[in-house]
Amino acid sequence: MTGLREQRPADRVLEMTLDGEPVKFTEGETIYEVAERHRKDVPTLCYDPRLEAFGACRLCVVEVEGVRNPVASCTTPATDGMIVKTRTAILEKHRKTLLELVVSENRNVEVDELSGYASQELTELVDRYEARTGRFAGKQSGTTNDADRNPFILRDYDNCISCYRCVRVCAEQEGDYAISVMNRGFATQITAEFGRDLRDSQCTFCGQCVQTCPTGALGDKKALRDAETPGEVRKTRSICPYCGVGCSVDLLTKGEKLVGVLPAMDGPANEGALCVKGQYAFDFVQNADRLGKPLIRRDDGELHECEWDEALDFAANGFKEAIAKHGRRSVYGVASGRAPHEAAYTMQKFIRAGCGTNYIDNCSRA
Ligand code: SF4
Ligand code: SF4
Ligand code: FES
Repeated sequence: MTGLREQRPADRVLEMTLDGEPVKFTEGETIYEVAERHRKDVPTLCYDPRLEAFGACRLCVVEVEGVRNPVASCTTPATDGMIVKTRTAILEKHRKTLLELVVSENRNVEVDELSGYASQELTELVDRYEARTGRFAGKQSGTTNDADRNPFILRDYDNCISCYRCVRVCAEQEGDYAISVMNRGFATQITAEFGRDLRDSQCTFCGQCVQTCPTGALGDKKALRDAETPGEVRKTRSICPYCGVGCSVDLLTKGEKLVGVLPAMDGPANEGALCVKGQYAFDFVQNADRLGKPLIRRDDGELHECEWDEALDFAANGFKEAIAKHGRRSVYGVASGRAPHEAAYTMQKFIRAGCGTNYIDNCSRA
């Protein structure tokens, strides 16, 4: 004992050398997290920043001075004084060979971008490394399950690379544990309970497994209905119109048609998560029965189209008559959870200041 307080790790400035440059990092960061923060383009396949690192694909390997073999950067903690190289000729060759092994088993690398958020990851890496898709011929794992009777999720395990991102997101993000891994080696198969259809499992059809799949093995069935619809896919940032959480989404359109929804990974309220309504229940937007103009029920008992001014006057007179006849507490307002803040504010002002009652609530507790 020296009498001096022992220096704790958090007190020290932690520094490592990354591709020849000294960089600082905080206790607990992995090499990959430090490298990504410093804009090093380290390839990954089994990595999803929202999940516990898994270390399965080995594509993120880096060289660490003093360590004989390359290490997986996504699972290796950064340590003080570490000297790391993220890109060398040997690493790039190693990554290309790994990709060629993976992709030789993969029947289809031409994946439609409507399949899901991460569906292009393997395709982009194959292009980047000019990996040969048929280099390692032989046995292949995964059996497609396109007979699964559900309207939302395509399960084409012919394209599965056993990264287990789907299984992990279902467990870690959703807490549903609806899917798991069966068997080993070439017999490996992602499966729902007892090999049954998803709709007979704990699946809530949140779509998270689809959006994290890097190969399109899990695909968005609804969006893929429009794979042949002409036009570029455009993304428009918006907010889910359902409950009061306010999840950020990217709406996928082709021309004037809404074809799908992607969860926004940078959405402050949802960080890439959605529920079944936000993910798949968008058909109402283009439903032919959707009202395009206000309707008033006239003396003949039938609903008739009218202009907005007339409809608003009609509704205002209805409120006035009810209050005159039955008092201000005859009015009760329920604000829609789909309404933006401004509309919700206007609604409470109308009920409180306009009608003179505090009888107001909202339906945001979906
Ligand atoms: S289905 Fe997709 S996410 Fe799941 S293990 Fe296979 S490749 Fe990975
Ligand atoms: S849709 Fe959601 S609940 Fe269903 S298997 Fe995928 S991640 Fe799990
Ligand atoms: S991304 Fe690190 S092992 Fe797969």
